[in-house]
Amino acid sequence: MPALAVLGAQWGDEAKGKVAHVLARDAQFSVRFNGGPNAGHTVQDGYGMARMHQVPVGALHPGCVGVLAHGMALDLWALWEELEDLREQGRPEPVLAFSPRVHLILPHHKLREELEGSAQRIGTTRRGVGPCYEDRAARRGLRLADLDDEKGVRNTLERAVAELRVRGYRDELPIEQTVDALLSFRRELGERVGGVRDRLEHALSEGKYVLFEGAQGALLDLDWGTYPYVTSSTTTVHGVGWGAGIRTDRLDRVIGVCKAYTTRVGEGPFPTEDRGPSGRHMRDVGREYGATTGRPRRCGWLDLVALRYACEINGLTELVMSKLDVLTGLSEVWLCDAYRIAGTRQEHFPTRAAELSAAVPVYERLPGWRADLSRKRTGDDLPRPVQRLVSFVEDRVGVPVKTVSVGPGEEQLVALG
Ligand code: IMP
Repeated sequence: MPALAVLGAQWGDEAKGKVAHVLARDAQFSVRFNGGPNAGHTVQDGYGMARMHQVPVGALHPGCVGVLAHGMALDLWALWEELEDLREQGRPEPVLAFSPRVHLILPHHKLREELEGSAQRIGTTRRGVGPCYEDRAARRGLRLADLDDEKGVRNTLERAVAELRVRGYRDELPIEQTVDALLSFRRELGERVGGVRDRLEHALSEGKYVLFEGAQGALLDLDWGTYPYVTSSTTTVHGVGWGAGIRTDRLDRVIGVCKAYTTRVGEGPFPTEDRGPSGRHMRDVGREYGATTGRPRRCGWLDLVALRYACEINGLTELVMSKLDVLTGLSEVWLCDAYRIAGTRQEHFPTRAAELSAAVPVYERLPGWRADLSRKRTGDDLPRPVQRLVSFVEDRVGVPVKTVSVGPGEEQLVALG
């Protein structure tokens, strides 16, 4: 049985939730290794629509253990709400396992995000994820394991509040209430905390099926993304090693998910953004509004320079192309195959955001199609222009598109030859 990773190959929101949910059907473990409540993975199944933020989507399958590994930034308050929402849908309680090393998002992290202005500057999801990772790197964070030391928890919170006071924050921050809540969460989690890496290593050595669910996308990676307009974790395949403690050579398949167009939420360069009728078509037909914040997503054409880069950085073995049906009805489909920067044609993805902002896309224009794709189930059924689009992408990025998605349902995935 394989070990595989499902990763976003763009700026997040590629429909990884659906893909991971389908792929996790027979998995023994489904692992979240980066990000936290900033992620929004949507799953539509027999119980209804679930918006998952921290619970691995694979854990919706009975028999699959959802692992929240140490690379995440975990908000226990939000997790409790998410579990409650799942219960209200009548779903069985997901079986979860937590790394004791996972860092916790605390109330002061969200306040700091607002005070420091990163929420406005970067257009973050305002979930306190960045400040939590900052505290981790500054060695003043609080991990799940640290909840076993009540005095230490209080000290950490008092220090954080004192620091907020220095920054001019004057409102009351209920330290005792926060300590009580954290200790109660810890009691509730009980035996579910611990042994995560050992269990994963053991499962991998035994050849069991383990799925690693990436959050966000390659272009939001802290190091490889469009810095500083990025998230604060490792969203690429390297995050599997970084955030789950697993050797990435254990992975048999590294699956990148991309849309047939591109979207981005928040600030930052986006060369193929289309503010005209085609972009509006993508937003309206694709219902491109954030699963976490409800913000309208910026929309534009598929950027093959960026996708090629995501394939290289991640060593993707295959691509899943989602939302092809959204492009139905457009007379042409544009694909950006290179940039023109300061008058020079360039096929590689620039390192500096300013350079990317100056990039003018060089487009290849392919014919569109009018046929309804939603009931297509084989590659041969797909209209010629769709087949041509897929071949063009494969040719230019050098990675096979093994599956395309033609609608929101899980049955609307088409495996290609
Ligand atoms: P943060 O992760 O909340 O710090 O936000 C940093 C950047 O990443 C912002 O541009 C967010 O819009 C973006 N971002 C974070 N999580 C997601 C996601 O799951 N999908 C799409 N964009 C995201």
